[in-house]
Amino acid sequence: MSQTFLATLLDAATEPYRPGGKFAYHFARGKLGTDPIFRSLLRQGLIPSGGRILDLGCGQAVFASWLLAARRLYEAGHWPAGWPEAPRIATLRGIELMPRDVARAHQALGAAHPLARIELGDICACDFGTVDVVTILDVLHYIDPPRQHDVLRRVRAALTPGGRLILRIGDANGGLPFRISNWVDQVVTFVRGHRLPRLWCRPLSEWRALLEGLGFTVDSQPMSEGKPFANVMLVARLPEAAQSDTDTRPLGSAGAI
Ligand SMILES: C[S@@+](CC[C@H](N)C(=O)[O-])C[C@H]1O[C@@H](n2cnc3c(N)ncnc32)[C@H](O)[C@@H]1O
Repeated sequence: MSQTFLATLLDAATEPYRPGGKFAYHFARGKLGTDPIFRSLLRQGLIPSGGRILDLGCGQAVFASWLLAARRLYEAGHWPAGWPEAPRIATLRGIELMPRDVARAHQALGAAHPLARIELGDICACDFGTVDVVTILDVLHYIDPPRQHDVLRRVRAALTPGGRLILRIGDANGGLPFRISNWVDQVVTFVRGHRLPRLWCRPLSEWRALLEGLGFTVDSQPMSEGKPFANVMLVARLPEAAQSDTDTRPLGSAGAI
């Protein structure tokens, strides 16, 4: 993989945060530059092209900025050989509980971006609409188990046939790496100006069973490269509709794990 290309992509995705101040900018750089999930999603082609994306608990919307920057570079012909096409976004809606994060997202992307809309809201209460891809990255452990289940049930209902949920969780059976990632999570949340949160974590096997019980087919892979964490990415897919179902919208290329 080209480190030079990743540096260019990181610059393109984080530059919009510069006017929002040092915290917004350096937080975006730290997150997008060191967390393996963002480049993995592109390299593995896990976000289908042409999809309507819903990012639950989007924070200051660094993932949206990453996807938009990736597509810009792709369209400019600056894209690594061997990587799947950067996804073309039909729409990207982010929902975030913290007003300060939403304000930073609006400052970076614009409150009226033509493709990306970042909203203040509680994912336990708001309507998810109809979408093709849902991402929930490091969010569900802030929510108690009954509401975790309800969010996943509503995600299932919001997804079109063949749609997918990309979820990252910490595996509660992950031993010391899991305890380290929980501790880091608490510290980061505190540094961002919030109360020390109570966290509700589950073992990977429980997350899988929950998703399979909702009708998803689930693949998982470790997603903490280079860090002593027990993070796991789950890609949960819904079956395609039967041939006769006229609601089916074909999506573009997508890789598999
Ligand atoms: C660890 S951060 C991850 C942010 C983002 N997903 C990312 O990967 O950069 C977790 C985010 O979930 C948000 N969050 C937690 N509970 C939420 C809720 N009920 N509704 C909306 N957002 C929530 C937090 O405010 C925080 O921004």
